Amino acid sequence: MFDFTIDGRTVTVEEGTTILGAARAAQIHIPTLCYLKGVSSIGSCRLCVVEVEGVTGLVASCNTAARPGMVVRTRSEAIDSARRTALELIIAEHGLNSTQYCFSCPKNGACELQDRCRELGVETTPFEVKPASGEKLDSNPFLAFNPSLCIRCQRCVGACNNAAGNHTLTTGRRGVRTSILAPFGADWKSTNCESCGNCAQACPTGAIIEKRRREYRSWEIKRVQTTCPHCATGCQYNLIVKGNRIVDTEGVDGPSNHGLLCVKGRSASFDFVQSERRLKTPLIRNKETGELEPASWEDALDLVARRFTEIREKNGGEAIAAFACARSANEDIYMLQKMARTVFKTNNVDNCARVCHGPSVAGLQRTLGSGAMTNPITDICENAEVILLVGSNPEEAHPVIGMQIRAALRRGVKLIVVDPRDIGLSKSADIHLKLRPGTNVAFANGIVRQLIHDDLIDHEFIKTRTEGFEELAAMVEDYTPERVADICRIDARDLIAAARLYGRAHRAAIVYCLGVTEHSSGTEGVMSLSNIAMVTGKYGRPGCGINPLRGQNNVQGACDMGASPGDLTGYQKIATPSVVEKFEKAWGVELPRFKGLFATDAFPKMISGDVKGLFIFGEDPVRTDPDTHHVIKALKNLEFLVVDDLFLTETAKYADVVLPGRSYAEKEGTFSNTERRVQRIRKAVEIPGTRADTDIFTDIMNRMGYPQPRLTPAEIMDEIASVTPSFAGISHKRLDSAKVAGCGLQWPCTGPDHPGTPILHVGKFTRGLGHYSTALYRASSELPDAEYPLMLTTGRVLYHYNACAMTDKTEGINEISGHSFIELNTKDAKRLGIADGDRVKVSSRRGVIDSVAHVSDKTNVGESWMPFHFQDGNCNWLTKAALDNICSTPEYKVCAVRVEKLAPSM
Ligand code: FES
Repeated sequence: MFDFTIDGRTVTVEEGTTILGAARAAQIHIPTLCYLKGVSSIGSCRLCVVEVEGVTGLVASCNTAARPGMVVRTRSEAIDSARRTALELIIAEHGLNSTQYCFSCPKNGACELQDRCRELGVETTPFEVKPASGEKLDSNPFLAFNPSLCIRCQRCVGACNNAAGNHTLTTGRRGVRTSILAPFGADWKSTNCESCGNCAQACPTGAIIEKRRREYRSWEIKRVQTTCPHCATGCQYNLIVKGNRIVDTEGVDGPSNHGLLCVKGRSASFDFVQSERRLKTPLIRNKETGELEPASWEDALDLVARRFTEIREKNGGEAIAAFACARSANEDIYMLQKMARTVFKTNNVDNCARVCHGPSVAGLQRTLGSGAMTNPITDICENAEVILLVGSNPEEAHPVIGMQIRAALRRGVKLIVVDPRDIGLSKSADIHLKLRPGTNVAFANGIVRQLIHDDLIDHEFIKTRTEGFEELAAMVEDYTPERVADICRIDARDLIAAARLYGRAHRAAIVYCLGVTEHSSGTEGVMSLSNIAMVTGKYGRPGCGINPLRGQNNVQGACDMGASPGDLTGYQKIATPSVVEKFEKAWGVELPRFKGLFATDAFPKMISGDVKGLFIFGEDPVRTDPDTHHVIKALKNLEFLVVDDLFLTETAKYADVVLPGRSYAEKEGTFSNTERRVQRIRKAVEIPGTRADTDIFTDIMNRMGYPQPRLTPAEIMDEIASVTPSFAGISHKRLDSAKVAGCGLQWPCTGPDHPGTPILHVGKFTRGLGHYSTALYRASSELPDAEYPLMLTTGRVLYHYNACAMTDKTEGINEISGHSFIELNTKDAKRLGIADGDRVKVSSRRGVIDSVAHVSDKTNVGESWMPFHFQDGNCNWLTKAALDNICSTPEYKVCAVRVEKLAPSM
């Protein structure tokens, strides 16, 4: 730290602080245009110039570091004159005198160039005004570029290259001028543009815009800050609302996104809210015609309450199950599980973590005592020296995390990718272990053995903070590099190099996703990964830990809120009598004590007739669960099915009653992101005919005899805090307070003054001593054979989310990515006589679909890959409902298929 002087004031700053940064911290205004914090500081516009005593001429404050004893003046005649001249040159470049632009410009009223002109009193320019030039580029469905309005500040280039790490926008030369090369022309699909729009957000003029910007002006709209409803990164943004319509979004500098958004968050998070296909009235199935028909809310809720009461009274609560919506707010999910337990009298309540990160919850609870991400995203990207990325493709599944990892790579972070496919990040990886799907346990055991043999383990940590190391060391001895290389089909030298790179780093983080969990050995895979961090003492410190990237926006919250057969809120165990007694006292009702069913175990029970009634809140298992025939058979066998959703989903088509609920943009509440960060969502619009989901559950509870008062979401969060020690310090009031606003609170947050817990297991594991897994490698449940010779694994693409319920309502998204495909290795395709783009039939023991071949070397020989989003050619007709042996998560990532070329359609 050192002192220097600005405008006569002494300020104290850290080494490396710019003059502009120091001035802003001291609330001294300096105008800027080309500078954008964390994005660009090329120092080209010269609006931020200041005088520094002893320096000849003016200096750009945005990229000049302060020095001890420096004396800076931010205002003087000479400074003002220089700033005005700089601005006059810029507006000549921008063509301000051509009034044709400003009147029609989409940025009119929100243009930073206009703002600076007003601030500095510049109305025209004495310089020759540049004529309109360059071709307007308008082919991207979301983005357009008008080079005539470009002032060459390069903020867009900084946003694309530095912040998003994408390197799609570049600069070129046109004569003596620098020009921006924006990839929005006819060939834009051949570039690696992700249509994220971070360039448009950075553009201070109307040169690069989101096309929808043309539909509104800044004085017509209001901003509602909320949390993105797609993946669990927890990006903060504003919904831009005109009247009762959302017309746009705008990234906000949140703790996990730092102003960035991906294409889904920016462009596919509101069309679905106001889609014509939204359900706007309840539906009841007419028993005579078999059709779903519109009904009143009263009739629908009466029927729901009557039928569930009948089933409960005749068969007990064990015969009813409820699935919670991991897209919805914590407050909704809390009320859903409260309804299930108080009036359905069942613990058969679960959420979609069962089909994704159930193994993370179960595995990390066993090894560490807490089944959640240990370190924040920003901490990992800023502090880790090495990232070990296993079974995770963040550029597509968690794109804003992917952007931050790309930016971290540029800063020198080392990356080890462990993935069966060539993902985008494997190109920049120091080591890519392209292992056989389903062999994670062998890989992890092999790494631990190598760490022990190289003595890259933390003896003190092992001794003081863990138990059972000797058993682990004995178990991994069989996992020699040669044996692991054989099982995983990798090079033994790469395995050794990966162990050494990770083990030698002082700070290294493991980041993983569904490539680890969605196996019949998923929980063992998670625990085996945890061994790697534990033997090297990489827990409870910055830039370390084990970090499951949770899938859906609030799947972390769905688990936290007790939508789980064995847990009440905050992972308080049903099996612990004092926990149940506490909730009985708080809720004033006797609660079921039996161990509930996992959702995936409930389907066979529907087929056997043991489960007769099902309430599905916001899930679409017909689209998303493995082995679709099996799911449909189970749903058809139910006596009573209720679906509460936004659309008439494939699952809702089998329902007896359909209830139109509300989306994230129509309600107050909170989401918990993948870092355990509880953040606010806020109501932006109203969709007539729908009903708040918490009110739906309250109405059913009252009709079934439980006196549940109608509470606001804020009151519900207060109730959650009162029964949940890890949420005791969380309230809407606190989240909205100036102190916390914009940062959220990371649980555990145990009291009103507790700041939250960014890093878990500091000094001590939640369970006390860390526990090692001694799981052995087991082969996947179905391997290729002569009849089904290819291995199929499934995953996400950038442009869609899960069953596309939200993303396919945005036209531009479907234009870019609208159909199913299967990736085949070049050699397999050649052997099968299949060319890139051919239509193919894909069969497994469970079903047959048509799709389109994408031929490349992304997958290994003998392996194939499909996205799981699309209704046409949905891969879940093929996948197998083989379940994890501990938490019943399905083995989506491995099944055996046969691929045959289809005749071209006429
Ligand atoms: Fe500093 Fe443009 S803002 S030179």
